[in-house]
Amino acid sequence: MPPHASPSDIPTPQTAFKASSYASDGKTHILLAATGSVASIKIPLILSALSKYSNTSVRLVFTTSSLLFLPPLTELLKIPNVDGIHLDHHEWPRGLSSNPANAKETIPSDISEQEGQETSIWAKIGDPILHIELRRWADILMIAPLSANSLAKVVGGFSDNLLLSVVRAWDTNRPIAVAPAMNTLMWDHPVTKTQVRVLEEEWKWFRVLRPVEKMLACGDSGSGAMKEWSAIVAWVVEEMKLKLGEEEGVENV
Ligand SMILES: Cc1cc2nc3c(=O)[nH]c(=O)nc-3n(C[C@H](O)[C@H](O)[C@H](O)COP(=O)(O)O)c2cc1C
Repeated sequence: MPPHASPSDIPTPQTAFKASSYASDGKTHILLAATGSVASIKIPLILSALSKYSNTSVRLVFTTSSLLFLPPLTELLKIPNVDGIHLDHHEWPRGLSSNPANAKETIPSDISEQEGQETSIWAKIGDPILHIELRRWADILMIAPLSANSLAKVVGGFSDNLLLSVVRAWDTNRPIAVAPAMNTLMWDHPVTKTQVRVLEEEWKWFRVLRPVEKMLACGDSGSGAMKEWSAIVAWVVEEMKLKLGEEEGVENV
């Protein structure tokens, strides 16, 4: 089995992320998130496509479950336009979070490495709060793929990880696009229909990029597969009016 990502790929930074440091960079800020669906394997392809656009800055938020489907995260940081990766343990030190996925005993290596070091974890009133800073930074949030679990939590208003806290604190004048990806029976379940209806009909700042029909990773065939990654990129390019870099533009004439 190829190596997959781990929370310890990206230790908690020593200095806090502040949106105001990037407010005048003249770039379109895309916050791209992935959740625990096999379709997260498409993230490198999406990033590679976005790397061709000028004045574009991409930051990534990953749920702990999504890491199973991603390459070591330092590989993603090498892709042009990828300016940061933000994980649950950058907001909540392991062992303090109420989210069992962040419990210290499941990931033993990491917090002890940082004990005694200065980190960006909130310490006092006035310190930046990561999920609020990410919301301030982002012109758009794209969650591709969105798992059944995270879909339910979004619609239920849960905010027990970094991604869900960003969604919960979102400025509803800006768009959130989601690309659900799940087993056909999960997609066809009545609770999914109810949740998707809320996003499509009631929460106007959401855009649902609906799944497509194909053979799924689990061997079932039917709807629930994430929309083609290139169609997702095409959607965000059009929505945010991204422009190809000069070299890419020439090649594409
Ligand atoms: C190999 C594997 C593949 C999975 N694929 C999916 C999927 O495509 N869609 C989905 O909704 N859940 C899938 N799951 C289940 C989610 O990973 C699980 O519900 C997890 O709690 C989601 O957490 P998150 O929403 O915080 O990322 C899969 C789990 C495993 C182990």
